[in-house]
Amino acid sequence: MNRRQFLALAAAAATLPHAHAQNGRARVLRAASARQSLVGPSHPDSAVWAYDGKVPGPELRYRQGGRLRIEVQNALEVDTTVHFHGIRLPNAMDGVPHLTQAPITAKGGRFLYEFDLPDAGTYWYHPHLGSPAQVGRGLYGALVVEETVAPAVDRDLIWVLSDWRLNREARIVDDFGSFMDASHAGRIGNTVTINGANPDALEVRAGERMRLRLINASNARIYGLRFDGHAPWVIALDGHPVEPHQPANNRVVLGPAQRADLILDCGGTQDRSYPVIDEFYARRAYRLLDIRYSSAPAYARATPPVPRLAPNRLPEPDLAVAGRHRIVFGGGMMGAMPSQREHKGLFWTVNGKPVHDDGHRHAPLLTLVRGRSYVLELVNETSWHHPIHLHGHVFRVLSRDGKPNPLREWRDTVLLDPDSRAEIAFVADNPGDWMFHCHVLEHQATGMMAVVRVA
Ligand code: C2O
Ligand code: CU
Repeated sequence: MNRRQFLALAAAAATLPHAHAQNGRARVLRAASARQSLVGPSHPDSAVWAYDGKVPGPELRYRQGGRLRIEVQNALEVDTTVHFHGIRLPNAMDGVPHLTQAPITAKGGRFLYEFDLPDAGTYWYHPHLGSPAQVGRGLYGALVVEETVAPAVDRDLIWVLSDWRLNREARIVDDFGSFMDASHAGRIGNTVTINGANPDALEVRAGERMRLRLINASNARIYGLRFDGHAPWVIALDGHPVEPHQPANNRVVLGPAQRADLILDCGGTQDRSYPVIDEFYARRAYRLLDIRYSSAPAYARATPPVPRLAPNRLPEPDLAVAGRHRIVFGGGMMGAMPSQREHKGLFWTVNGKPVHDDGHRHAPLLTLVRGRSYVLELVNETSWHHPIHLHGHVFRVLSRDGKPNPLREWRDTVLLDPDSRAEIAFVADNPGDWMFHCHVLEHQATGMMAVVRVA
């Protein structure tokens, strides 16, 4: 195959008949309990909560500049909402109970989400109410906003990474929000699935080029993926294009809620398998799956250069005049908790205060002037990792531990290592009350959350 054929093939692959939302009519997304095989035929199906009957929920695909119109129908026994993580949308569509909307009531409530999609990239959706259990039981899905001109690839794949705590019968262990999880690293499970299943291998053909969109939908697990025999390029982080680069130590690190778009060139040998290892937690490395080469001969073509995605049109913060704030994350079992805690079950603090999950209603931590640039210094004074997420905006990561960050990538969720800090910068251009919280869901539910007001 020559280069022209390759590009034609890639273009065809990019326009495969995905469920593009029709104009006008709302797509229905139904939350309900369901059963699904998570670990394979050796175990019974697991009772899950799912959108449209499957974990992950349907892959929502739109074109950049398109409009999302989704009616969520709640057939669960509990109230819910849907948050479209990472999308710069109007506040009333942000899916935060009590803060931006009333909960969608159990057993029949409905809510219409409708907004434009300004930025191309890889996003996801999930509830924002009772998050540890609702996300932990399987309510989430991928949301892809396609570039006007997508890079030429043979396949555009999504891996939604879920982490489950299952017992021997593959039943979800019902200890959401346990003291132990909430006050330490969060609910880290014992079973990781890719797109809701436990595949042994990804079959590839030698010479293939893949775009692999990784989404960490896990409550607390952080991934550090090493693709043995391969050297993937990162082309986007949290949806937004980044200078194409090979990650440090050839390891793709993804905190909860983070995404990475990779270009994976399959330069391995026919009939061979190469493991993908998750080695984030040093003594708990495991093989996620294999990349298995078919016996088909390698594509006879040169590997084209790594594509560069067109940037989204994001407002550039003006650092010279930016307002500055310092935000300290505290708590956890090895940190100094303020004594005399009045409310039980609050382990974490933002600037010294814990906020409980039940209301989401509270005085803002910060009030920002609409249109102004801000630099926030995020300080993690705890012995734990915290992926910190800001709603309604994306920010540049300027520095880590006082050292400039050469990538200066745009993100909506920044992973703070234990006892570390990072500076982020953005233009507060989206009016409303926005959540600012740790995406380890048990941390969010036990104090590590705040509201940032843009007015
Ligand atoms: Cu992914 Cu506040 O959410
Ligand atoms: Cu946290």
